[in-house]
Amino acid sequence: MKRFASILAAVALILISHIAFGQRPNVYILATGGTIAGTGASSTGTAYSAGQVAIQTLIDAVPQIQEIAQVRGEQVVNIGSQDMSDEVWLRLAERINELVQDPDIDGIVVTHGTDTMEETALFLDLTVNTPKPIVLTGAMRPSTALSADGPLNLFNAVVVAASPYSRDRGVLVAMNAQVHAASQVVKMHTTSVESFVSPNTGPAGTILNGNVTYYSAQARTPLHFDITGLQTLPKVGIIYSHAGISSDIATAMLSSGYQGIIHAGVGNGNIHKNIFPVLKKARAQGILVVRSSRVPTGPTTLENEVDDEAYQFVASQWLNPQKSRVLLMLALTRTHDWQQIQEYFNSISQYTPAGK
Ligand code: SIN
Repeated sequence: MKRFASILAAVALILISHIAFGQRPNVYILATGGTIAGTGASSTGTAYSAGQVAIQTLIDAVPQIQEIAQVRGEQVVNIGSQDMSDEVWLRLAERINELVQDPDIDGIVVTHGTDTMEETALFLDLTVNTPKPIVLTGAMRPSTALSADGPLNLFNAVVVAASPYSRDRGVLVAMNAQVHAASQVVKMHTTSVESFVSPNTGPAGTILNGNVTYYSAQARTPLHFDITGLQTLPKVGIIYSHAGISSDIATAMLSSGYQGIIHAGVGNGNIHKNIFPVLKKARAQGILVVRSSRVPTGPTTLENEVDDEAYQFVASQWLNPQKSRVLLMLALTRTHDWQQIQEYFNSISQYTPAGK
């Protein structure tokens, strides 16, 4: 109740100052590349290079955003997000943590490739501590394509970042006129502009005619990891299970410096009999093991199909394997206690309507 009242007060204050003084909110764009900054030789083909266009060109291409907010931008990197790295994540999170201290900045947009956007969104959700809106956006079609989706996505992301109603919702993704929570959003189609969905919960809201409408109250995730001064993150990898999987790849991970393994299992996180002994050995060596699932919807539940307590495995609950990897890397900067890490996975998952 107290929290609701303070959000209302903040929203009222921002609205009053913007109406009374005719001020537009200040939105800062951090650009990292991706298809939104991509160019192709043909306007109708699917071949193009990501990360070609600089941030000022993107801003200049959508002059309408200046009606919504005062917008400035900065280029962090200009890469395809398939090349996203721990180093860029840490740099980006540190820069956002710096920018949100500036009272003149109301919200932040991060332009990003779509391929790993959901991972970056969760990483920032867990490492940036602010009620100010942080909104990721990108494009499925390069800037040179017929009906490129980047300009409207950028406009909509600025709308979301400028809105006081986006405060205290954690990191958001604005794509294809929808808003999604970082912990829920998944890239679900390789080429369609309708690629981003929150398969377990549905989107958090929608953007239309320069306004964002949220369907429900959504709190920030309760976890925050301090990454100040960190240069690297613990090494965590993913084993993708399949029929007839052999143990060789998993075995190689035991002697390659991994501190954590995410098992993208079948069904409710089930483990092939060839892999089970390797994961038990990993635990004996102190490597954390998280059971997740290659199935795109539903949770990987604790203690149902696998006796997690006996093996000291962690169940990923509602996080998919790539998001589980993000949380495990951050968790390992703080603890190697598997029960504590299970608590982290539980606490993120409490924020899905379906519960644990
Ligand atoms: C990338 O993720 O950088 C390439 C694909 C895209 O942005 O859609």
